[in-house]
Amino acid sequence: MTKVLINEKLVDEQDANVPYNDRGYVFGDGIYEYIRVYDNNVFTAKEHFERLLRSAKEIGLELKYNVDELTELIQELLSTNNIVNGGVYIQVTRGAAPRDHAFPTPSVEANIMAFTKSYDRPYKLLEEGINAITTEDIRWLRCDIKSLNLLGNVLAKEYATKYNAQEAIQHRGDIVTEGSSSNVYAIKNGEIYTHPVNNYILNGITRMVIKSVAEDKGIPFNEEVFTLDFLKNADEIIVSSTSIEVMPVVKLDGENVGDGEVGSITKSLQEGFNRYIDTHS
Ligand code: PDD
Repeated sequence: MTKVLINEKLVDEQDANVPYNDRGYVFGDGIYEYIRVYDNNVFTAKEHFERLLRSAKEIGLELKYNVDELTELIQELLSTNNIVNGGVYIQVTRGAAPRDHAFPTPSVEANIMAFTKSYDRPYKLLEEGINAITTEDIRWLRCDIKSLNLLGNVLAKEYATKYNAQEAIQHRGDIVTEGSSSNVYAIKNGEIYTHPVNNYILNGITRMVIKSVAEDKGIPFNEEVFTLDFLKNADEIIVSSTSIEVMPVVKLDGENVGDGEVGSITKSLQEGFNRYIDTHS
């Protein structure tokens, strides 16, 4: 029987319930992470848990665990569920309390929940690329926090799905920010361009890996804002995340990106990413 982690207990999936007045459920008042498992190794676990702690701090949520304790809890869940290749979702909410927008006083225990999923890497899509569509970024102004409030992201992804695209690339006015659940890169004349890390985007862990791979390979990695027009004229486009890794975009708004094939810089970054997985396990 698959187990779910609920506040330090591993419970059977069908018994894994949350209280009706949990603030994550009522207000989206919480944070989360999604971490990948490759060959029994929890990939970039430290970076993900550090980001979880940062998100908690930014919303004034007190979490009683440090990175090592979180790693241990998640490791136990993963081994119980026999996850060799897959992922683990972890969320923390401000806890259950009578509905009131302000934080509960006295404060209540945060609720932590985690579940696992077993699946393989998206090999076919990584080789062939995906379609993306552009849409206005309607989200709040603290996209650096990995918060449970994902309605803007959900609507963007649904818009993409409706038009047979796998990702929506968001822009605030003219400036490209990030995907509905990914970071975005435009490649032009052998250089990578991506939105700088600030409140408009999530500081992706995959982005950090791509940056390090690009630096190792001597590919310029420009953390600068760029326009929708620049994106539309890019030679190559990539979207990245824990689940889709270094994913080529071969069609944008129905038009070919470059020559419509996966480009050479993208392939080189994918190769470097694979090596990074192998050398960080
Ligand atoms: N999402 N930007 C947004 C809005 C995201 O939701 C994500 C990841 C990223 C990439 O972050 P990372 O490389 O650390 O996964 C960027 C995860 C996969 C999710 O919501 O499941």
